[in-house]
Amino acid sequence: MTHATLNLNGKSYELPVLVGTEGEVGIDISDLRAKTGAITLDNGYANTGSCTSAITFIDGEQGILRYRGYPIEELAEKASFEEVSYLLIWGHLPNAQELAEFRHRVTYHSLLHEAMKKLFEDFPITAHPMAVLSAMVASLSAYYNREDEEPDLNIARLIAKTNTIAAFCYKKSIGQPFVYPRNDLSYTQNFLHMMFAVPAEPYKISPVLDRALNLLLILHADHEQNCSTSSVRMVGSSRTNLFAAISAGVCALWGPLHGGANQEVLQMLKAIRDDGGDYRKYVNLAKDKNSGFRLMGFGHRVYKNFDPRARILKKAADAVLQEMKVADPLLDIAKNLEEVALHDEFFIERKLYPNVDFYSGIIYRAMGIPTEMFTVMFALGRLPGWIAQWREMKDDPKTRINRPRQIYTGATTRSYLPMEQRTASTEPAMLQERELVLV
Ligand code: ACO
Repeated sequence: MTHATLNLNGKSYELPVLVGTEGEVGIDISDLRAKTGAITLDNGYANTGSCTSAITFIDGEQGILRYRGYPIEELAEKASFEEVSYLLIWGHLPNAQELAEFRHRVTYHSLLHEAMKKLFEDFPITAHPMAVLSAMVASLSAYYNREDEEPDLNIARLIAKTNTIAAFCYKKSIGQPFVYPRNDLSYTQNFLHMMFAVPAEPYKISPVLDRALNLLLILHADHEQNCSTSSVRMVGSSRTNLFAAISAGVCALWGPLHGGANQEVLQMLKAIRDDGGDYRKYVNLAKDKNSGFRLMGFGHRVYKNFDPRARILKKAADAVLQEMKVADPLLDIAKNLEEVALHDEFFIERKLYPNVDFYSGIIYRAMGIPTEMFTVMFALGRLPGWIAQWREMKDDPKTRINRPRQIYTGATTRSYLPMEQRTASTEPAMLQERELVLV
């Protein structure tokens, strides 16, 4: 198959066809408008490839996720978050020297410019940590965006400093003094230290927490062209700086239909518990379209069989809670909810399965991380993926500024009305959407 044929208004056009290394087929419509005058319309981009990419492969029907060819199950079991970050950004697993250098960089650049501490102080204590995180990541460009520096230095800075920023967001929210990073600790250990240590007493980092955090960050590290990653690429395509592009990704992640779902899941599980634990009632509520209620942590645009990350996390949730000797009734509610939904026609028909956010919150909760910080944790994990995708976009000679088209459905041309001729009834009527005419 080398081309597809399009018939439009009695004319026939040949469009080139691309096949990816895993057999995915794409019809290249780059010249469509120039050739035909028409554009494509694809609500939510569900059928639109925005780029070619060699970073992450997903087969939603089979429940497959691979970073640079490595199955997520293998990386989750064997790798460290630093190794996975390196793999995503530079395309291969680091050798011992490369890993040591990378670790050194993301440790030694972890201090924030002291002036940035003042920025934290000016936020209200009630600020959502994602508001603070997005602002702080964008602010890094005010302190560290010198053009004469080696390009990869800012990548190391961003990874190192976001760890510190994330922990500072938490300290700020509970009114405790910031705890500075330590150079003798790994990336995940440093995060736990900055989150949970207090000046009054020594803090011992639990290896269980360290392993759990490593796993969670790896599972979130990349997920090809999702909403936040596409935002990073979109914003980055204007050639804005790395920090500004990543800050856009943080903002996109915040929404409850994306990374914000992990916070929503926990809030939903708590609500079910407080309502007497009747999970069936909530499954029924989710099936009732008029209720406006969705089972948070269920469904995925791409996975239509199972989310492999959710599978790994379900097992990990059991293990972490056991190791930490925590019994959490919310885990039982989550399992029951999953069981009921998986056997319900509504969910089966629509191929709705638990996604990565369904079990991650239970583990974060057991680790002592508050609900409002969940999406920050997601952002910390997704950071290497965003950076890898930004770098690939920037270095791809085919990249053009991202600028989608539209089908205009507003008013046709009309004349400006002087104030005295405007009535309440003329204006709103004009704003109504026009019917799309299919020819
Ligand atoms: N609960 C109940 N019904 C659902 C759910 C849900 N969680 N998700 C989808 N549906 C139903 C929809 O009502 C729709 O039904 P219909 O065909 O009868 O109209 C059908 O399933 C398809 O749903 P869409 O919203 O069209 O699917 P889309 O691909 O646009 O959205 C999304 C995917 C946003 C993840 C959606 O499933 C959802 O809102 N889930 C809950 C939020 C969530 O968990 N988000 C995290 C996603 S993972 C991540 O970002 C890391």
